[in-house]
Amino acid sequence: MNTTFIKDGIYWIGVHDYTTYMFEGCWPIDQEGVNYNAYLIDDEKVILIDTVKEFMAEEYIENIKSIIGDKDVDYLVINHMEPDHSSSIEAVIAEWPDVKIIGNAKTFPMLQNFYRVHKNLIEVSNGETLDLGGRELQFYMTPMVHWPESMVTFDVQTGTLFSMDIFGSYKATVGSIFDDENEVETFLEPTYRYYATIVGKVTEMAKKSLAALTPLVPSIKTICPSHGLVWRTDPGYILNLYIKLANAEVEEGVVIAYGTMYGNTRESAEIIADELRNCGVKTIKFYDVGRTNISYILADIWRYQGLFLGAPSYYGQILPTMENLLYKLEGNKVRNHVCGFFTDFSWSGGANRVFDKFIQATGANCPAEMVNVKGYPTDEDEKKLREMARAVARQLK
Ligand SMILES: [Fe+2]
Ligand SMILES: [Fe+2]
Repeated sequence: MNTTFIKDGIYWIGVHDYTTYMFEGCWPIDQEGVNYNAYLIDDEKVILIDTVKEFMAEEYIENIKSIIGDKDVDYLVINHMEPDHSSSIEAVIAEWPDVKIIGNAKTFPMLQNFYRVHKNLIEVSNGETLDLGGRELQFYMTPMVHWPESMVTFDVQTGTLFSMDIFGSYKATVGSIFDDENEVETFLEPTYRYYATIVGKVTEMAKKSLAALTPLVPSIKTICPSHGLVWRTDPGYILNLYIKLANAEVEEGVVIAYGTMYGNTRESAEIIADELRNCGVKTIKFYDVGRTNISYILADIWRYQGLFLGAPSYYGQILPTMENLLYKLEGNKVRNHVCGFFTDFSWSGGANRVFDKFIQATGANCPAEMVNVKGYPTDEDEKKLREMARAVARQLK
């Protein structure tokens, strides 16, 4: 049992997940874990905002009971149907069968499909306010951030925004859920990683959602996301960071991500890194795509302006580990980046053609031509790699 009083009848009733190996089956939940934040409003009526992942439903239900005792839960607001927040809905209904479920027109078909739930539903639309026992809750649709049914809930009386995945991050909170009791900077990288993996592809929709929420901003006193910290002291910090994320605003720095089979492509990558140092580039993130889950690489690509991608050809294609990164990166795009590409081949190539397609699809800004090395880089190859590194460095802010 583990709950935290936030303010004015609002409690955190979430859980820390250190068990799940891969979030969405793709993105490592490493030793830092992840929070599924859920909330309870204990007023004239008892209102739940979201649930948690099903395997921790027992802890979630105990959290609720530790606050409300024998009282019933009157309402459950479903901000988001992704099962990390919705899969304990059945446990809530089993415990409190008369609970009324608040969602929108896109929530309820999913509720039926996932859990066969179709009773006691209250449908809300964008901007609608419900008076639940004197507590006014407003609902704002945030479609595709990051599912079609996603919405946020605003508690008017306390200025509390229950923002769902928006403003969320990987990394479980330890000891305290609050921004002022944590080292906020330690959540920066997990916030980038969360954004790049979960929201990056729909960043244009995230911009629209933020714009739609702008009129609320002066009234927001506390932000309660579904993952990561509760922002009670400095909600402006996460709001501003999110605006930067949604606009894909990049910082000075370079990511070099390469795949290699026998070290030849790494040699090219190291030449590029060496030349970038010569040009005074301080932040260089150097990743072997075969040794790093792409979520960490995507996070740094979202953050830094420079990008080099290199890989060997592989039976007329590209090394599969690089293809995996390219697939996700094509969705995220490389809007504000300066890019360089390099390949290695032994006979007929292939990686170069895959990179060409990627460049066409994303409109990647490449100030120099791709460098294609046959086997181990020659002196002439080295010259071209260094020229490419300098051309990219010149365009970095
Ligand atoms: Fe989600
Ligand atoms: Fe989530």
